[in-house]
Amino acid sequence: MKSNVLFRRTARAAVLMLLALGACNRAAKAEAAPAADAGAASASQAGQAAAPAQNTRMVVYKTPSCGCCRAWVDHVQAAGFEVEVHDVPNVQPVKDEHGLPGHLASCHTAIVDGYVVEGHVPADVIRRMLRERPQVAGIAVPGMPVGSPGMEVPGGRKDPYDVIAFSRDGKVSVYESR
Ligand code: CU
Ligand code: CU
Repeated sequence: MKSNVLFRRTARAAVLMLLALGACNRAAKAEAAPAADAGAASASQAGQAAAPAQNTRMVVYKTPSCGCCRAWVDHVQAAGFEVEVHDVPNVQPVKDEHGLPGHLASCHTAIVDGYVVEGHVPADVIRRMLRERPQVAGIAVPGMPVGSPGMEVPGGRKDPYDVIAFSRDGKVSVYESR
């Protein structure tokens, strides 16, 4: 009985993830040009923020066809992160290896200065984490909220979302809300 409920919840999460991935790819195609513009705009804005650029080397694992992942990479590069992209057929083993709780999963997984950054986390929140150095394994934006960095849509809709901090032993807390 209990495992049945768990299965249904897992299945629902998988369906939501597939829907989100589909939306992501559509959004990425429709928004290819505006996303590039947004990247350029935040590049100039990020000028000051990027000045003390230490601890900003980042490795990103994503699938080769993920358009919103590419848009997010553009976002963090514009904010001054030095990004090494690894295209992999499946990001799940990377998530497992770094202890990401399953319910916090998104599309891509990044590693920066020993921390895990899962999904469409805004660059300024990553910087806050690198400044404050909380005792966590990393931070995640689960799923793919519309309007988060790399998930911009025509019309500029922005859904609210939380950036969740998580530890290796499964503790989670809201690190920041957007
Ligand atoms: Cu995505
Ligand atoms: Cu992604």
